[in-house]
Amino acid sequence: MNIKRVLVTGGTGFIGSETVIKLIENGYEAVIVDNLSNSKKSVLGRIEKITGVLPTFYQADVADEKALREVFEKEKFEAVIHFAGLKAVGESVEKPIMYYQNNLGSSLTLIKLMKEFNVRNIVFSSSATVYGVPERVPLVETDPVTHATNPYGETKVMIEHILMDTCVAWKELNVALLRYFNPIGAHPSGLLGEDPNGIPNNLMPYICQVAVGKRDHLRVWGNNYPTPDGTGIRDYIHVLDLADGHVATLRKLEEDPGLVIYNLGTGKGTSVLEMVAAFEKATGVKIPYTIEPPRAGDVASNFAATDKAEKELHWKAKYDVVDACRDAYNFQSKNPNGIE
Ligand code: NAD
Ligand code: WQD
Repeated sequence: MNIKRVLVTGGTGFIGSETVIKLIENGYEAVIVDNLSNSKKSVLGRIEKITGVLPTFYQADVADEKALREVFEKEKFEAVIHFAGLKAVGESVEKPIMYYQNNLGSSLTLIKLMKEFNVRNIVFSSSATVYGVPERVPLVETDPVTHATNPYGETKVMIEHILMDTCVAWKELNVALLRYFNPIGAHPSGLLGEDPNGIPNNLMPYICQVAVGKRDHLRVWGNNYPTPDGTGIRDYIHVLDLADGHVATLRKLEEDPGLVIYNLGTGKGTSVLEMVAAFEKATGVKIPYTIEPPRAGDVASNFAATDKAEKELHWKAKYDVVDACRDAYNFQSKNPNGIE
């Protein structure tokens, strides 16, 4: 079986746009569907600037069956990479229905149409959040997935189950569940990167906004964790590595594997203070910070075992956090108001 054309839902978003670039660079054709609820149409022109190819784009909600059916009728593709979804943990606690409706609704519509049009390969953007509060690190793919700690995470657990059940009923379907750890960084051109609305919740975009003077200082959420410097440890993966991981996964799906699950991380944990130091090293910009009480719901340490992805996908993260900080800062400096 040969995968050539790929439907990329959420393909104008942070991870989706980098993946579309990698797909094009690796000889695939990408068809993007995005409702632009958290991204800009101008991303398409930026992808063209980088690759020389303007990807086919449909502005549509993946949960809208009629609109999505039109895409399936017009376009032919052999695989889907499903990035579309809402992803803000805090917002999902405040608006659980919106999260369940959007993330589950879009996935159900998509899977239904894949069956109807006999599209037999799907890569799903899952998250390390499905492991809930880890009993031990590094996290391996066989660790229990029971309940996430917030509605956003629960949508990922549920969609994983929906895809697993679909695999049982539809034997020809190949499913890759990719559990991302903490994606950071940006395209080295400075044309594409993370563009959060409002005050960033995540560490990297917050540090970037401090660096360009948009925020006064970083608030470090707790320094009393059982970690070497007391601050929280995470597995930060450069978005370019993550995007490469999707190309490697498509190649895996060509082997007709049924259901596969991979952690996409670096395997290396970095603390908040180490991230501050990496950023200062990469950019020469000082990041002032204060130590604050721990953030509700945070765990001390969370990082991936990457052996399975390395062995089966022949993929491994190449960049380190200093590279990612340099690229994120470059994007932030060139786009002080985000992607316009
Ligand atoms: P993003 O918000 O930048 O991209 C998601 C894209 O999906 C956006 O362009 C948005 O407009 C679109 N979208 C949302 N709902 C849609 C719908 N119903 N129909 C059509 N388009 C829709 O987010 P991202 O960081 O690129 O994340 C991509 C995927 O990876 C998400 O599913 C997210 O949950 C998952 N993920 C992200 C992280 C992270 O930290 N960034 C970590 C783990 C998993
Ligand atoms: C990282 C570390 C904070 C901000 C989240 C989601 C997860 C996944 C990735 C989608 C923690 C500390 C942060 C700040 C800080 N997304 N921090 N000051 O919480 O590991 O993961 O994004 O699936 O589901 O929960 O990432 O970047 O928010 O935090 O000290 O202003 O930085 O306490 O130790 P997190 P993060």
